[in-house]
Amino acid sequence: MPEDDKLSFSAKDAALELSDEKLRPRTLDSFIGQSEIKEQMRLFLDAAKKRKKPADHVLLSGPPGLGKTTLAFIVSEEMQVPLRITSGPAVQHPGDLASILSSLEEGEVLFIDEIHRLPKVAEEMLYIAMEDFRVDVMVGKGPGATSIPLSLPHFTVIGATTREGMLPSPLRTRFGLSLRLDYYRPEDLKELVRRSAEILSIPITDDACMELALRSRGTPRIANRLLKRVGDWVTVENAKKAGKEDVKKALDIYQVDPSGLDRLDVALLSALENQFGGGPVGLKNLAAVLGESSETIESVSEPYLIREGFMVRTRKGRVITQKGRDHLGSDRRDLFSS
Ligand SMILES: Nc1ncnc2c1ncn2[C@@H]1O[C@H](COP(=O)(O)OP(=O)(O)OP(=O)(O)O)[C@@H](O)[C@H]1O
Ligand SMILES: [Mg+2]
Repeated sequence: MPEDDKLSFSAKDAALELSDEKLRPRTLDSFIGQSEIKEQMRLFLDAAKKRKKPADHVLLSGPPGLGKTTLAFIVSEEMQVPLRITSGPAVQHPGDLASILSSLEEGEVLFIDEIHRLPKVAEEMLYIAMEDFRVDVMVGKGPGATSIPLSLPHFTVIGATTREGMLPSPLRTRFGLSLRLDYYRPEDLKELVRRSAEILSIPITDDACMELALRSRGTPRIANRLLKRVGDWVTVENAKKAGKEDVKKALDIYQVDPSGLDRLDVALLSALENQFGGGPVGLKNLAAVLGESSETIESVSEPYLIREGFMVRTRKGRVITQKGRDHLGSDRRDLFSS
């Protein structure tokens, strides 16, 4: 890539990042929906504040875009402590983790994104650090190398994962609080769209917020992204206020499915039905046909399709449901009628 392309790309990324940061709620009160999780988190944070001690370690799991990173920011904000961010894939060697751990300050929050992807040795180092607040630092090389235990200040680990099942149980059990985020209800997403529209100064009616919410796959990140595209429509069409019909027209241009399914969801349903006669089919075969990793299919597409009743998972494999078939059928009717 030529140097200036790289530059303009990163400038675009930075602009996107900026508007995303504007939309990220900073306090638990402004975090929309997920009422049980909010209640548990509120009690947990209030107790830690009252004790004047660092909060216990927290594990956040759930599909992408539901608010795991946002909650980690909220914990650091509410506890008024700094937040250090790393991720499983960023820790290549246990030494990388050792140096992060040994530089933490009392009370600091260490956010480890994609924690299920930490290398095994780093994982073991983390158990000890989380439980005993100690890290063993290797000094020297070869046969003369010795490990020196270094004690650490008390800190809080917040782990985020889209694959809770992949976390080994010794690591999972070291988290004092484990919260599982689920897809948002349309009413909650409607409120989220309303809040974001206000922040971004996009004029939009209540009906239109609901229409957007219904097409957002239960996911705040998608709702915010679609809202921005509706914002483009308002600008270009010189609309005073985006109504339900404007949302429909704008999102049709972007081929957003009326049920909120994305391209991979539809491709998965279509492969299930057309290539595998509706199933049952194993994950690996499905992944091969779609050219996607099994992990993406299992952590991104399937949870939503199963929850919404478009497909089921049986012991023999994945099977499409009547609702899934109807959905493919209605898509085809759209194609034929246009
Ligand atoms: N409950 C919420 N209320 C308002 N906005 C939210 C909420 N949850 C998420 N968002 C918005 O959605 C965006 C995506 O959330 P976030 O980055 O926290 O998701 P994530 O679970 O960390 O995703 P990933 O697994 O891809 O890292 C955030 O920028 C934030 O603006
Ligand atoms: Mg995240």
